Amino acid sequence: MSLLVIEDIHKSFGGNKVLRGVSFSVEKGEILGIVGPNGSGKTTLINILSGVIKPDGGVVVFKGKDITGWRAYRRAKLGIGRTYQITRLFTNLTAFENVMIPLHYGAGEKTSVRRIEEILETVGLSHKIHSYASDLSLAQRKRLELARALALRPELLLLDEVFAGLNPVAVQEIVSLIGKLREELGITVVIVEHVLKALSQLADRVLVLAEGKVIFSGKYEDMVRDKEVIKAYLGERYGETA
Ligand SMILES: Nc1ncnc2c1ncn2[C@@H]1O[C@H](COP(=O)(O)OP(=O)(O)O)[C@@H](O)[C@H]1O
Ligand SMILES: [Mg+2]
Repeated sequence: MSLLVIEDIHKSFGGNKVLRGVSFSVEKGEILGIVGPNGSGKTTLINILSGVIKPDGGVVVFKGKDITGWRAYRRAKLGIGRTYQITRLFTNLTAFENVMIPLHYGAGEKTSVRRIEEILETVGLSHKIHSYASDLSLAQRKRLELARALALRPELLLLDEVFAGLNPVAVQEIVSLIGKLREELGITVVIVEHVLKALSQLADRVLVLAEGKVIFSGKYEDMVRDKEVIKAYLGERYGETA
């Protein structure tokens, strides 16, 4: 049984038909990459999977349960974690406090200092535990955003452009971190990303979204050679080295 199955998802904003029948599944332990032109509905899809917005039609099944109508907090409890394209940290709180909040309110876990230290250690922020989020670098804020998602012990992690704006060294470090989350914690990952080099290293499989539909699903190496993908997506990114 697939960990996540979505079938025939539709979503419009007014007359703007953003998703027009999107279907795919994600296997346990898999890292699935999703790419597509700006405005192709990638973030909308992540919002639908995490329960931030509701689809107009279609079904979302996670661990065999139809969760289409479920709110975000219930999905989080069932094991769906996410990060945001624009980080949603409490900038006036420390790294420690930023992890404490989802742990306490989300997981309903008795907050232990040790557990918070452990999560920050996992994402490589032990040395910044008492730093204010506002004093962290972009790469560190992205790590902290990951830490907040990990606090809820997700089985499925949805990542929306974690690499955007990072320098190549920081990209490589976070690539390793995501690889480690899969290897050591067995977390399944859906990753929306424009930084193709990172995807080529991480993704077992890549989906390409264009004009509201999945136009490609397969290996990264085949994706970059696919004529339809080149026309709809890669053409505009030609020459990019990031
Ligand atoms: N809450 C919203 N209200 C109205 N339009 C939206 C909303 N969210 C997204 N859109 C529109 O949906 C389209 C897809 O957006 P988005 O999912 O953010 O694309 P991507 O993440 O692939 O760049 C865009 O045209 C965007 O303007
Ligand atoms: Mg987006």
